[in-house]
This record gives sequence, C-alpha cells and structure tokens, in this order.
Amino acid sequence: MNEKIIDGKKISLERKELLKEKIAKLSSKLTLVVISVGDNPASKVYVGQKEKMAQEVGYNFKNLHFDVITTSDLIKEIEELNKDSSITGIIVQLPLPSNIDKDKVLNSVSSLKDVDGLTNNSLLKLVKNEHSLIPCTPKGVMTLLDSYKIDVIGKRIVIVGRSELVGLPLFHLLLHRNATVTLCHSKTKDLKSYTREADILIVAVGKKGLITKDMVKDNAIIIDVGINRVDGKLYGDVDAACIDKASLMTPVPGGVGPMTVISLMENVYEAGK
Ligand SMILES: NC(=O)c1ccc[n+]([C@@H]2O[C@H](COP(=O)([O-])OP(=O)(O)OC[C@H]3O[C@@H](n4cnc5c(N)ncnc54)[C@H](OP(=O)(O)O)[C@@H]3O)[C@@H](O)[C@H]2O)c1
Repeated sequence: MNEKIIDGKKISLERKELLKEKIAKLSSKLTLVVISVGDNPASKVYVGQKEKMAQEVGYNFKNLHFDVITTSDLIKEIEELNKDSSITGIIVQLPLPSNIDKDKVLNSVSSLKDVDGLTNNSLLKLVKNEHSLIPCTPKGVMTLLDSYKIDVIGKRIVIVGRSELVGLPLFHLLLHRNATVTLCHSKTKDLKSYTREADILIVAVGKKGLITKDMVKDNAIIIDVGINRVDGKLYGDVDAACIDKASLMTPVPGGVGPMTVISLMENVYEAGK
C-alpha cells in the first residue's frame, strides 16, 4: 500500500471492532430505524448497507418503508418513533420524493435520536461547539485526520463545497479546532488561488477530477469526499495524479466512504448513551 494513502477502509474496520466490543457490553440492544419513501434504487442500496453494518456491530435494525406518504403523515410516524423508548436512532433516507417537505420532515426527528446530525438543532449545536451528534461524513473526515495524527491547529485548510451535509459542518468543526478555514463553492472566483495555498485540502463537490495537480500545494494533505460514478467505476473529485504532490491523500473508493458508515454506527452508540 502506498505510504501516502489515508486508508479509510482499514481505519473503519479497526473502529468497527472497537465499537462491537463496546456494544457487546451494553445491557440492552440499541435499535436503529431507517425511514424510506418511494422507490429510489440507490436508496435501496444505501439502506441495505446500513442494515448490514448495523447487524454486524450488534444493533437491531428496522426499515420503515412507505411507497407513498404525505409530509404530515410522515411527521406523525416520526413523532411516534421519537416517543418510543425502544428506538435509539432515526434516519430519514434521502432523497425524499418531491411531494414531501424535506426540511420539515428532517426537523421532526428528535435531536436525541438524530444520528445523521441533520436537524437544525444539531447544526446549531455544532456551530456553537456544544455536544451534539455530528453529521456522519464530516465526523468520518475528522476521525481520519485524528487517526493519522494530523495536527490542524493554525493550518490553512481549504474546503471546496459548502453543503449542509459535508462542507459547512466541516468548516465549523475545523474552526473549533483552531484551523484557519476557507470555504469555497461554485461562485468562488479563481478556485486555484485558494486550493494552492492549502496545507489541508478537503473537496466535497461531486465533479470528477475538478482538482488537478496544478491546483495543489507541495506536500498538501488531500481529503477527497467526492463520489462520482462513471461507466460503473467510482472516482473522486481530485485527480488521482495529485498524489504525486501530496504528502497524504484519501483514495476513492476506500477513503472517506467507509468512514461515513462507521461514523453513523458510532452515532447510534452515542445516542444510546
Ligand atoms: N464519501 C462519502 O461518504 C460521501 C458522503 C456524502 C457526499 N459524498 C459526495 O461528496 C460530493 C458532494 O456531496 P454534497 O452532498 O455535499 O453535494 P452538494 O450538496 O451538491 O454540494 C456541492 C457543493 O459543491 C459546490 N460546487 C459545485 N461546483 C463547484 C465548482 N465548480 N467549484 C467549486 N465548488 C463547486 C457547490 O457550490 P454551491 O453551494 O455554490 O452550489 C456546493 O456547495 C458528492 O460527490 C457526493 O456523492 C460522499
């Protein structure tokens, strides 16, 4: 294995074993519920992955599926789950069909059971650096940085992509760790002038090969969150050749992806506490 590779697969497997040990010591089994609506084929795959991992670590898993449902009925279902003390964590699988008010539905999940960390309440707590359930992909990125003992204090970190799912929470998490963080997006002018200054470059856009070698500083650490499927193969947002200039870099697949799933399982354990 290339010594420059940040091996998310390995780290996630190590964390899975640690988590299994902790879960085995619990007096009662924790339960994760995933709510899904409609027939999105990708969602079915993602729900299946969550079920497999949940069962492997020792949780109960339930998939509450609706072919069709209204926003208000879906919120009623979630409120029942919020009240049910046998349920530890609730996930609303995205995307939801267009007839459903996504924000209203997500925000009806109790922040105590919000293992995806996507409610307004969880985001506010994260911004204010209060203890909360952190969204799974940003949590996974932070775990990777910590696992590789990457010190972020005072470092110039550039994040490309400002979504509430990835870039925005990462911005706050890294700021709280005393990094100097710049958040770039689709309206950023001269993106390269920012990325070239980054000691740590984190890219979460969804455009294959957006970041090329000339956009990277020598010895930068690169975290590629992007997942782009082209002709059945997965690619990141960062051109693979960038590893020549980087000191460390996550591969796609096998970098951030596996960390997202294990972070979700860790959040269920947190919520159970
Ligand atoms: N590895 C994992 O586990 C994992 C988890 C989640 C997501 N992902 C992947 O990460 C990528 C991003 O996901 P997301 O949900 O954050 O996507 P998103 O909601 O579509 O956000 C994309 C962000 O990229 C910005 N952007 C678009 N084009 C750009 C450009 N040319 N230059 C600079 N910024 C640009 C957008 O800017 P504006 O805000 O201005 O539109 C937006 O902030 C996707 O490939 C997704 O599949 C991976």
